[in-house]
Amino acid sequence: KDHFNFAGGDTVALAKKYGTPLYVVAEEKIMERCEEIRETFLEKYINTKAAYASKAFLTMAMCKIIAREGLGLDVVSGGELYTAIKADFPMEKVMFHGNNKSWEELYLAVENNVGRIIVDNLAELQLLDEIARQQMKTVKILFRVTPGIEGQTHEYIVTGQKDSKFGMPLEREKIYDAVRQTIESQYLDLTGFHFHLGSQLFQKDIYTDAIDVVLNLIHDLKERLGFKAIELNVGGGFGIRYTDNDEPKPLSYFTDAIMEKVIEGCQKYSITTPTIIIEPGRWVVGEAGITLYTVGNVKEIPNIRTYASVDGGLPDNPRPALYRARYEAVVANKKNAPLSMKTTIAGKCCESGDILIWDLDTPEIEAGDILAVLATGAYNYSMASNYNKLPRPAVVLINQEGKSEVIVQRESYENLLERELIPSHLSEE
Ligand code: LLP
Repeated sequence: KDHFNFAGGDTVALAKKYGTPLYVVAEEKIMERCEEIRETFLEKYINTKAAYASKAFLTMAMCKIIAREGLGLDVVSGGELYTAIKADFPMEKVMFHGNNKSWEELYLAVENNVGRIIVDNLAELQLLDEIARQQMKTVKILFRVTPGIEGQTHEYIVTGQKDSKFGMPLEREKIYDAVRQTIESQYLDLTGFHFHLGSQLFQKDIYTDAIDVVLNLIHDLKERLGFKAIELNVGGGFGIRYTDNDEPKPLSYFTDAIMEKVIEGCQKYSITTPTIIIEPGRWVVGEAGITLYTVGNVKEIPNIRTYASVDGGLPDNPRPALYRARYEAVVANKKNAPLSMKTTIAGKCCESGDILIWDLDTPEIEAGDILAVLATGAYNYSMASNYNKLPRPAVVLINQEGKSEVIVQRESYENLLERELIPSHLSEE
């Protein structure tokens, strides 16, 4: 058949069975990435850990996959934590991040014994100390620091620079103060440091530069306060392929460089090698997902452009509008047809910026065609909205045998209004 196949699933049949727009996620592709993490990092180097950054794509089914694959989970909100709790994810493998965690969120985390809380700032440190005391529990924490290294990516997703809402700048006296507070606290156990440099990164140098900066800090802390850091979390950010313009490196390109630098740096600063933690999100799931749409109106503006509108867009994938992100797509029911024209794929929102792909090479395109947009596994479902009151798509998981199953149901119109109330003075009677 002339149909585009994804991970053993006929995408045209999937669109017909489940309707569109539809997120399709391939379990096998996630497993392959997890295996690569095990082989090129966890099993290759001792004292290493990996956590999946769940903000990229989180459902209870995803928690089950990640738990089975032996990775930890990075969460950044009460909602993500709650999802992990409900999926029975092993709590000792959860790391809780965020630059503004609330009392309720921290309480929930301590109550459920999450493995690590990554403390962003001094106010949070005090709040957490109180919560841990209330519950009479010892909480293992890391400090998030900003090593002052800038990644080359979209300005909205760089995070490691000094001028940042995340983490503590590496000013020695302030860090010493914070570390002293944890040494004095009966309830906080500081294990080390965390940084995250940015997302969709392709160069190893910024990781190694940042590692050197933080190992230097760890050395100074040992000298000054006799404090020994035993963990260093170097964040995520490893880039993937969205279009042919992206040239992603294998994971080992990063992990080998990271470990080489850690070993070299620990010798240079004569400190004990800490446990190294990575937390990729996009890299695990980005290429494991696609989105299926049905083409509706096709509009040719003579000598300028042809627009093909699909039944979703900005609400299910805000990344083109938000980051000028680029995607590739195929007309799934015409896989082998010659690419004879350029088509601009438009979303259905009342918003000129709702264009998914500009000037895509396509076969002759017409209403009823099924379009598969590739590499939408990360930051699509998780960033989806109901703009224009569009119900959010279902998510279907294709398992290793190529069988498909719904893991998130499509929203109904009813769902959209479930939490709405009409005040009495506005009701008729
Ligand atoms: N660790 C921390 C502390 C993070 O802040 C992030 C991402 C990650 C790990 C995972 O980064 P990844 O491996 O997925 O690159 N919405 C944006 C991406 C924002 C990423 C924020 N932090 C996008 O759609 O490109």
